[in-house]
Amino acid sequence: MDVLLLGASGRIGHRIADELLARDHSVTGVSRSGTVDDVDDADFVAVEGDATDAGDVAKLATGHDAVASALGPSDDESPDRLVDMITATIEGLRRASVDRLVWTGGAGGLYVDSETLLVDTDDFPEEWEPIASAAIDAYDRLADVDDLAWTYLAPAALIEPGERTGEYRTADRELVADEDGESYISMEDFAVALADELESGDGVRTYVGTGY
Ligand SMILES: NC(=O)c1ccc[n+]([C@@H]2O[C@H](COP(=O)([O-])OP(=O)(O)OC[C@H]3O[C@@H](n4cnc5c(N)ncnc54)[C@H](OP(=O)(O)O)[C@@H]3O)[C@@H](O)[C@H]2O)c1
Repeated sequence: MDVLLLGASGRIGHRIADELLARDHSVTGVSRSGTVDDVDDADFVAVEGDATDAGDVAKLATGHDAVASALGPSDDESPDRLVDMITATIEGLRRASVDRLVWTGGAGGLYVDSETLLVDTDDFPEEWEPIASAAIDAYDRLADVDDLAWTYLAPAALIEPGERTGEYRTADRELVADEDGESYISMEDFAVALADELESGDGVRTYVGTGY
């Protein structure tokens, strides 16, 4: 598969690039600078682009089989830039006639029980609320889209650099937690889940949670 990867220079994006390349996919990795450090593979090319610009996304996406995103706003930007990014990405795919999008989303909009979202739980860290709300707003943009085969794939509540075990669980619109109630996934295993979703299409038009 020829994949356009938005956010390839980021912490999660970098691991998605590694996972896709290990599966012999071709990856065009987008960042604002046009550089992606430490990915050295004949099937990888780094390109410059602004994911808040639908014209840029359309130009870059053209000719690819699918678009994956691990986009996130920089610390010095408003979390709401995420909504600009998903809006431009949706429009860019339409203009490029690329149908498949797997978006790295947020866990905040996943249900922890039948009526409570993770973001609304008492223990949810206050400092994460702005980006969690922006990620839910981004999901709302995607939820309205019925002409693209999108998947909104959310990490567990906690995602960190770690080990690639190849093991993980998913749940539709629900937080995935272990028997002790801990919701965690390594960035490496999240990349496995994203690559599996790209290849299988099991979660088309679904908000999917991941974790152990
Ligand atoms: N538990 C959770 O729900 C959870 C936890 C962590 C992360 N996340 C989500 O996962 C996503 C990725 O997280 P991360 O930690 O990997 O983020 P990150 O390291 O900050 O990476 C963000 C990526 O987005 C790119 N980017 C930002 N603005 C751009 C623009 N206008 N045009 C093109 N590229 C742009 C950056 O590239 P350059 O800066 O190089 O241009 C970088 O590659 C985020 O949406 C984050 O909210 C969710």
